[in-house]
Amino acid sequence: MKKLEVLFTEEQIAQRVREIAQDINDYIGNDEAVIIANLKGAIPFYADVFRCLTGKVRMDFIETQSYVNNASSGHVKITRDLSENVEGKKIVIIEDILDTGLTFEHILKHIKHFHNPKELKICVLLNKEENREVVIKADWIGFEIPNHYVVGYGLDDEQYLRNLPYIGYWV
Ligand code: IMP
Ligand code: MG
Repeated sequence: MKKLEVLFTEEQIAQRVREIAQDINDYIGNDEAVIIANLKGAIPFYADVFRCLTGKVRMDFIETQSYVNNASSGHVKITRDLSENVEGKKIVIIEDILDTGLTFEHILKHIKHFHNPKELKICVLLNKEENREVVIKADWIGFEIPNHYVVGYGLDDEQYLRNLPYIGYWV
């Protein structure tokens, strides 16, 4: 039977969230920034990071769909666009996991083309470098992970298990 092995505990995640939020605070400084979550998987990570931010920040959301039955379809669709005006502002996009990079490639093209921010930074909780198909470098990475399918803390298995407070993988 499939068993869920813990990869990162709640405490490990919380510690890393504080470190990353500090880096983002240093980056924002006295400027204004819009912090964007890629729905839905980034939500727990986004909410935890956002609460540690101290500067002048606004929230916004974008929603993409790329995965069909736990496999990258290669076709990325934007199903919800930004609602804030980010033109000329610093933006930070927060994502649960960088895998092939196809989702991010699409988001970056879309935001640069239609929303014209001043600067764009990428923050991901997990990075599966091994699986990358396009060149995308995140500015802040929570943890590097091997090529496992992971769940919890926002990451889903067929839309379930996003509610787990830790990150695990099937063994
Ligand atoms: P990419 O386009 O291949 O980089 O995939 C990014 C998206 O795929 C993420 O936003 C996740 O929703 C999903 N994804 C990739 N790997 C995993 C995983 O191990 N567990 C859950 N979702 C994943
Ligand atoms: Mg996702």
